[in-house]
Parts: sequence; structure tokens; C-alpha cells
Amino acid sequence: MSERGKLKIVVLVSGRGTNLEAILKASSQGKIKSQVIHVISNKPNVAALERARRFSVPTTVIVSQGIDHKKFFALLLEKLQLLSPDLIVLAGFMKILPKTIVQRFKNKIINIHPALLPKFPGLHAQRQALEAKEKNSGCSAHYVDEGCDTGPIILQNKLSILPHDTEETLSNRLLPLEHETLIKAIQLIEGRS
Ligand code: GRF
Repeated sequence: MSERGKLKIVVLVSGRGTNLEAILKASSQGKIKSQVIHVISNKPNVAALERARRFSVPTTVIVSQGIDHKKFFALLLEKLQLLSPDLIVLAGFMKILPKTIVQRFKNKIINIHPALLPKFPGLHAQRQALEAKEKNSGCSAHYVDEGCDTGPIILQNKLSILPHDTEETLSNRLLPLEHETLIKAIQLIEGRS
């Protein structure tokens, strides 16, 4: 790490990339000191890659579909080791990292999840909250361990579920809160480094 709190971030994505863009904007506006040095996607042609390019951030695609699970993660680990980031952010990355990567980057990987963990880990977290008739939803920034959305929580923010919320309306209202929570989590980590 070159300067206190100025972390080299690698962001892992699989799709849309609005959380990635929130980090890129926060960095370019000086809200965080850290810089995204690289974006890695496991899917080609996703919007997240276009967002990275707009901010002139180098990208790598390691296609996960159709290759052996172990081979994919070996390639990912190799790339991460080359990049040597201070922090890895999972921003809509739809894969569970194996032990090899989690241990190699212990306490250096974070994720943003659209639920108040430990409730509703995994896919369709917003739908799970609605089906459970929760009064509140929210999002969690957490460190990544070997489980699915089980690592230590850094920060959470709550949002009331409205009577007519659907999975779509709740997800849309949660998204800006996710962005805010993720940026605050990075600021906290910068402060600790
Ligand atoms: C977000 O809801 C995030 O919490 C979840 O996947 C979604 C990704 O959105 N893990 P985006 O790709 O950042 O727009």
C-alpha cells in the first residue's frame, strides 16, 4: 500500500455494475481515497465492463460458464495475485469464492448484500424478505468468508418495507442504499488501514 488509506481495489462483477459505478464515482470525486485498479467479470459483455471502461479502468473477463469450477477459480486466483490488491470488492459477483482465494486474501474481501444479514443470505434476498412478511429490509456490507453471505458484518442500513412493495420496487429502493453502504464500508476500511 503506497499511502495510508489509499487502497488498491479490484472489483469482481457479473452483471449490471451499479455498485461498481458507485465506487468509481466516489473515487473520482475524492469521497474515498482508494482507487479501482482493475475490474474482473466472470461474464463477457456485461454492463459493468462498459462502466469500468468509461472510467478508463482496465478489465479482465474470465468466463466461468463451460469451464471446470476449479480451473475458473485457479485462473481468478492467478489474476488476483498478479494484481495484488489491498481490497477486493464483490459487487454483484454471483459466485461463492473458494477457500484458496478467501484464505489468500484473508480480511481483504468484502461484499454488498441486499438484506439485513444474517437473515436472507443467497439469491433473491429481497423476495425472501417479502415472503417472510418482514417489516424492514436493508443491506449489509460484510467481509467474505468461505460461506454464502456469512462473514463478519461491517455495516448495515435499514429500510422499511412498504405495504405494496414487490421484489422489483423493494430492489429499486434498496439499490441507492446499497451504494451508500458500500462506500461507507470502504471509508471505514480506509480509516483502519
Ligand atoms: C446488488 O443488489 C447486490 O447487492 C447483489 O447483486 C446486485 C448487483 O447489482 N449482490 P449491481 O450489479 O451492482 O448493479
